[in-house]
Amino acid sequence: MVKRYRIASSVISLAYNSHMVNIGNISLPDLPLLLAPMEDVSDPPFRAVCKQHGADLLFTEFISSEGLIKDAIACRRKLDIFEEERPVGIQIFGGDEENLALAAQIVETVEPDLLDINFGCPVKGIVGRGAGAGVLKDIERMVRLTAACVKATRLPVTVKTRLGWDEGSKNIEEVAMRLQDVGIAALTIHGRTRNQLYKGQADWTLIGKVKNNPRIKIPIFGNGDIDSPQKALEYRNRYGVDGIMVGRAAIGYPWIFREIRHLLRTGELHAPPTLEERLAVCKQHLRKAVEWHGSIGLREMRGRYAQYLKGLPELTIHRKRLVILSTFEEVEAALDDIGSTYKGLELEWEPIRLVNYHENCAL
Ligand SMILES: Cc1cc2nc3c(=O)[nH]c(=O)nc-3n(C[C@H](O)[C@H](O)[C@H](O)COP(=O)(O)O)c2cc1C
Repeated sequence: MVKRYRIASSVISLAYNSHMVNIGNISLPDLPLLLAPMEDVSDPPFRAVCKQHGADLLFTEFISSEGLIKDAIACRRKLDIFEEERPVGIQIFGGDEENLALAAQIVETVEPDLLDINFGCPVKGIVGRGAGAGVLKDIERMVRLTAACVKATRLPVTVKTRLGWDEGSKNIEEVAMRLQDVGIAALTIHGRTRNQLYKGQADWTLIGKVKNNPRIKIPIFGNGDIDSPQKALEYRNRYGVDGIMVGRAAIGYPWIFREIRHLLRTGELHAPPTLEERLAVCKQHLRKAVEWHGSIGLREMRGRYAQYLKGLPELTIHRKRLVILSTFEEVEAALDDIGSTYKGLELEWEPIRLVNYHENCAL
């Protein structure tokens, strides 16, 4: 059953005035929905379920340029991408021009659709090495690092960053122009400063200003706190961005992509997934995670059950049962059991709760 969400048709047409968005030679639909790069989250199994539910462009988690150069196994594995997930971008980070350029060339060998540079990671150890959001304190350096990558590869190079280092130094407008001038093909902006980590609310005002700056020709993607289709529509209309990147809201809820797309196209809210759908996708994700990571995949999925099954009666009890199981078959059987016990049940809808990630990261 599809619920009617009353919004004026003029609001929808503003959001959906059909024009393709191009990143280099990649053509994306109007208002593309991007799956955010997320460390230990955006692996091939998760990307697959997000793609299946409507994400238009996927990113790997960030990969250390030094790790790639040293050919560290863990880093090499993060380069694995699959035909069915295209278009897909590989994200790298690093604070050394030569190493970043070399890493860009390594990335090129696995033929992703684009290369993304992470200039947004707030973690102290990374920032301290002049990588991630660390470069927001030194635009010249950021420009040099970017130019080195653009020169090193034929892939379209994109950047993901934040508004600035702190409240007093929000330099994203200058950053956008300078990076466009050295050849980036698109820019994603997370509406927080480095010092905010994940605290407070993402502020999209400056993202909108960058987008509406007549000097800016590249696509500008907005990111931060999108947790419902209504918010995606509202932010698209208010800030005019070329696309929206979704991170935390998709964890355990890949349906967010189809729900946003549906609202944009029709002005109606898509019904939330049924319990059967939730269980089926959870099992599918689990199967892929075990295929991909081996038994570690089972452990990694433990944090996801609560999200996949949100709204289920006695969720805590079910989750506790699921997380102690040690084989794929046992978890699959337990999920089937839940399906039989609650057959036909309409789940209570609960809003998505975004976790304050990195909250313990010292500034
Ligand atoms: C678990 C986790 C891991 C993340 N890892 C990365 C990363 O590898 N690269 C990156 O650019 N951003 C990373 N981020 C930031 C997200 O891409 C995104 O910018 C942020 O979560 C805000 O978007 P959201 O409110 O839609 O989640 C990570 C975020 C989370 C929650």
